[in-house]
Amino acid sequence: IPTLIFETSSELAKHVANIVADLIRSKIKEDVPAILGLPTGSTPLGVYRELIRMHREEQLDFSNVVTFNLDEYWPMDPDSIHSYHTFMRENFFDHVNVKPENIHIPRGDIAADDVDTFCEEYERTIEKFGGLDLQLLGIGRSGHIGFNEPGSARNSLTRLVNLDPVTRRDAASGFFGEDNVPHHAITMGVGSILSAKKIIIMALGEHKAPVVKRAAEQEVTDEVSASFLQTHTQSQFVVDHAAAAELT
Ligand code: F6R
Repeated sequence: IPTLIFETSSELAKHVANIVADLIRSKIKEDVPAILGLPTGSTPLGVYRELIRMHREEQLDFSNVVTFNLDEYWPMDPDSIHSYHTFMRENFFDHVNVKPENIHIPRGDIAADDVDTFCEEYERTIEKFGGLDLQLLGIGRSGHIGFNEPGSARNSLTRLVNLDPVTRRDAASGFFGEDNVPHHAITMGVGSILSAKKIIIMALGEHKAPVVKRAAEQEVTDEVSASFLQTHTQSQFVVDHAAAAELT
């Protein structure tokens, strides 16, 4: 996977935010929507901060932007402080002019019996918009993209999954202890992600260095979902120095 290395996380964030802004502006000129796939977590926070700054100071207009978030814990009340709905409102949507009807996030409050229908509908909605123009990703220490934990198939679609113990441990501090971290999530699949026209996967910090190496330079395997990005011609790794430490 082609890899860009930045000295600092703020330079990385500015670079990625500029790519997003260029896409939005070019779609405005064509008078068509810009379809974005978005992650939560700590990695994209700088990108969201920079996009908010561009909205405030440079009038970057999000009125043509349609968003699809990768995942949400299940079960999870959208109004919970732990939900990715809350995360996205607080860190991005409350501060820019994306239209509420253009925001899509998997719902953690779907009844077990209705989850499959919900997931099929999520896929259909992405298709209806003509697919994702740009998918932004973080990477988990388990190698996951979205919550596609080890064993996820290359052609997997949006579905209910079990979270890996490594993922639940990494989420523990946010939940005041590992016991409170949900065991399940609804996530877009590896196949849903690979259908995006362009993919940018970001990684920050030395704790990500081993998994960045596995995903970017070693064999394509369902043991490391992010390694499937090697099969996508328009995917790029964007990392800081610490996360690049093990790359050859
Ligand atoms: C979040 C998501 C996850 C995270 C990954 C890295 O929506 O899909 O794959 O991107 O767990 O999380 P951080 O950025 O917190 O290290």
